[in-house]
Amino acid sequence: MRHSAIYPGTFDPLTLGHLDLVERAAHIFDRVIVAVVVHSRKRTVFSARDRIQMARESVKHLSNVKVDSFDGLLVDYARGLRVHVLLRGLRAFSDFEYEFQMALTNRKMAPDIETVFLMPQESYSYISSSTVREIVERGGDISEFVPLPVKRLIERRIKQK
Ligand code: COA
Repeated sequence: MRHSAIYPGTFDPLTLGHLDLVERAAHIFDRVIVAVVVHSRKRTVFSARDRIQMARESVKHLSNVKVDSFDGLLVDYARGLRVHVLLRGLRAFSDFEYEFQMALTNRKMAPDIETVFLMPQESYSYISSSTVREIVERGGDISEFVPLPVKRLIERRIKQK
């Protein structure tokens, strides 16, 4: 039996913390699907297409990881793929309340789907997509916070503006 897990997120953009989590999951599960939500409840800075491309290029060294996108309810997407594990990262205690609410809501809607939490490497635990966006907006260097393909795509977008 193959064990698969879905790692859902907005990934606006994907950071080194997200990538660390994907790499950990790739050791545990046979297949990991990084699922980029197309319409996030948050207003995104990067288009769905860019968020997907950045994720895809960042995980291409991992043969059992693929990037996909979804819209609508996460549990419906998981059921459609017949995947019963959702993966989320816990960076600090402050993540807990939001993650707890989301995991229990998903469980209520789909009791057959379990949420599994992993912790990223502690040196990445302070990184967030919004701090990366803020540094980008103010012209700073994001090399320490995002994978190289993410940095490159963001630099291309800045030049195009
Ligand atoms: N490393 C770095 N940052 C991390 C991280 C990690 N390991 N884990 C979480 N984060 C940060 C992100 O950087 C982001 O930071 P920001 O708020 O500063 O931008 C934040 O935590 C969360 O972003 P992300 O990891 O991309 O996930 P999300 O919380 O945006 O994803 C969905 C939410 C997509 C899973 C959720 O909204 C969803 O399932 N939507 C579909 C609709 C649905 O089914 N809703 C019902 C669910 S209750």
